[in-house]
Formats: sequence, C-alpha cells, structure tokens
Amino acid sequence: MIVAIPREISPGENRVAVVPSTVKELVKKGFTVQVESNAGAGSFISDADYQNAGAVIVNDTEKLFTDAEMVLKVNSPVLNEKLGKHEVDMLKDGTAYVSFFQPTKETDLVQKFLTKKITGFSMHLIPRTTLAQKMDALSSQSNIAGYKSVLLGASHIGVYMPLLMTAAGTIPPAKVLVLGAGVAGLQAIATAKRLGAQVEAFDVRPVVKEQVESLGAKFVEVESDSSDGVGEGGYAKETSDEYKKKQTALIKAHIAKSDLVITTALIPGRPAPILIPDDMVDGMKPGSVIMDLAAENGGNCSLTKPDEVIHHNGVVIDGTVNIAGSMPVHASQLYAKNISAFITYMCPEGLLNLDMEDEIVSGAMFTHDGNVTHELTKQALSSKGDA
Ligand code: NAI
Repeated sequence: MIVAIPREISPGENRVAVVPSTVKELVKKGFTVQVESNAGAGSFISDADYQNAGAVIVNDTEKLFTDAEMVLKVNSPVLNEKLGKHEVDMLKDGTAYVSFFQPTKETDLVQKFLTKKITGFSMHLIPRTTLAQKMDALSSQSNIAGYKSVLLGASHIGVYMPLLMTAAGTIPPAKVLVLGAGVAGLQAIATAKRLGAQVEAFDVRPVVKEQVESLGAKFVEVESDSSDGVGEGGYAKETSDEYKKKQTALIKAHIAKSDLVITTALIPGRPAPILIPDDMVDGMKPGSVIMDLAAENGGNCSLTKPDEVIHHNGVVIDGTVNIAGSMPVHASQLYAKNISAFITYMCPEGLLNLDMEDEIVSGAMFTHDGNVTHELTKQALSSKGDA
C-alpha cells in the first residue's frame, strides 16, 4: 500500500507525521512510504534522512495525493492555495486519511470525505485504553503543551519562579495555579515545580487530587457530595449550577493571589468551559499571566483571543494555539510514533483490511464508504441539517 506524507501547509505548523525511524517501521511492514519533498524541514529532518530510511521523496504535490492509498498528516486537510486545489479533492475515491481531525466541528470537511468516500480516521478519536496507549497522540502532544506553557508563562511574568535568598533580599517563589489537571495540567504542575514555583491545581475530577499532591502541588478542592464533574471513561462532564457557583468563588480567591495561571480544562466534544470570566481577570494582580491552553476550543478565559497574546489591565492573556508545534523535534517524533503504532496495528500486513469489530479501528474512524461511522459526528451533521 502506498502511504503518502504531505508537507504540512497550515500556517506555523512545523510538525510532520513521520520521522526516519517510523519510516523504517512502515517500510519493514511492507508499506511504500512516499514523503513530499521538504516535509520534514520544520522538524529539522532532511529529504536525505527520509531517503536513507527507505522513503521515496516526491516533488509533485498533486501526484503525491493522487497516488496515495493512505495519507498520514498532522492536521486535517486544507486548501492548497498554491495549487488552487483542496487536499481532499486531489485524493482518489476511497483513500484512507489519518490526522488530528475534529469531525464534530469540521463538518464541511466531513461532507467532502463523504462525497469522495474517504475512510477518515482521527487521532483525536483513538480510544484512551491501555492497548492504545502508544497511539495516544492527544496525550503525547498535551504533555508537550503543558511543559512549554510553563516556559512561555515564566518568560511573560516579571518575577522569578523559584525562591531565592540573595544578598539583596529574599525573593518569594512565584505562585502558579493550574486549572484542569489532565495530561497537560499534570505536566505543567511538574514543570512549574521543577522551576521552584509554589503550585496549586484544581480539577472537577476529585480522582486527580492524589496525582496533583504526588507532584508536590496543593489541590484546591470544591466541597461536593455528588460525583459532579466525572463523566464517561473518566473524562470530565458538565457540572451542576451549584457546583459551578462554589467553583467560581474558590477559583476567584486563588486566582487573585497567582502570578501565573495555566488553564487546560476541556470537556470532550464541547466548547471549553469558561473558568475565568472578565471580572475574575479584573481581580488579578497587574503583571500576572494567564496561559490558556484551551484557546483552540474557545478558551477557559472569557477574554482569550485564539492565537493572540493580549494585555488586559496589566494582565497578559496568552491564547497561543498549537504550543506542541513550537517544540517540533519531539512533537514530531512522538506523534510519528503514535501514528505508526496505529497504522501498523490496523494494517499488520501492510494492507488496508479493516477490522470493523476492533474497538481502536472503529473508534478512530469517522467516515467510511460514504457513511458517517461516528455517532457524535452524525449528530453534529444532522443538527446542521446536512444529514
Ligand atoms: P482533557 O484535555 O479532556 O481535559 C483536561 C482536564 O480538564 C481534565 O483533567 C478535566 O477533568 C479538566 N476539566 C474539565 N472541565 C473542568 C472544569 N470545569 N474545571 C476544572 N477542570 C476541568 O483531558 P486529558 O488531559 O486529555 O485526559 C483526561 C484524563 O483521561 C486523564 O487525566 C486520564 O485520567 C485519562 N487518560 C487516560 C489514558 C489511558 O488510559 N490511556 C490516556 C490519557 C488520559
């Protein structure tokens, strides 16, 4: 099977879906790996590196797409402005496509997939099971985002992160508050602790208390008798109004003392919950900073502007999206490993014989043979009146 890896053309994207070590893995399984010339440049991988690993370098973008039986990418397909053609339109009918893809949001693209009978797989939809752990690209990229957000945040604030005792006086440690202690949040906590900050964290899932404390941070707790906030599969769900009221009061008090607030709160398939409304920002210290890692899904702060750094009454609100992509070497290495694990699991003989009964294969798939196979995507399309 011919697997094609195009150069990512979304603005600011430096990642790539294969690295030389995963090209070797795929070639060994019997895939013909075709990589677009310069696809690895943003991650400092040359065409020669790919060639040495067994890939064929293709200069003609259109031919790369047309010849592909499966396309591996980081981002969902986009319009190639230089060619004046959409990436989906260059594919032959029935091609398989794998990348990060939010099918419940990107319904117009899903429609394109249906028209061309593309079999679509999203790395967002890989089930969070033990067996699929090595394919979990959401975790590998969130880990990077959590780490890097602390470094970016630390460079915005006008204070030291660690406690320092100097001849000129004692400097207290910075106060860092992490809202949402999932994969990104836990890595942010660990990183801020390593830099010497005093760290607090909050999450609607009480189960994370132990994880937060094991990293040396304080868990800020909303008292509640119910299992509010805990949804299917251990993910968060929408909380009750009473819980939200208590949460707001608690966060407001802690946020007012913080130098750096890192927000990572997400609820799968929904817009990010607003945890920091305007009035809470107004109560923050001038010079303090919010790193909003939920910016891509609307943001956890009401004032966040996706992919912009804004200043509001002395508070910096950083809504940079694709933070993982700003560390492209490791982001590509880990993503490529995740995607290769998925492909070699799905096609053990290097052929696309789909096992629809397999929970990883069917879980990650959202379109096949002109049909939507993912329930939430079906609902999203029908609420738009498209299905
Ligand atoms: P996520 O990106 O969907 O959410 C991030 C965090 O925000 C979560 O911890 C969530 O509880 C929290 N959150 C949601 N609404 C909130 C609110 N209103 N206030 C405060 N916090 C809020 O989740 P992520 O990080 O991708 O994973 C969540 C959990 O899934 C992990 O911590 C882990 O328990 C589980 N997981 C399991 C894996 C496996 O078994 N292979 C792999 C990865 C994650």
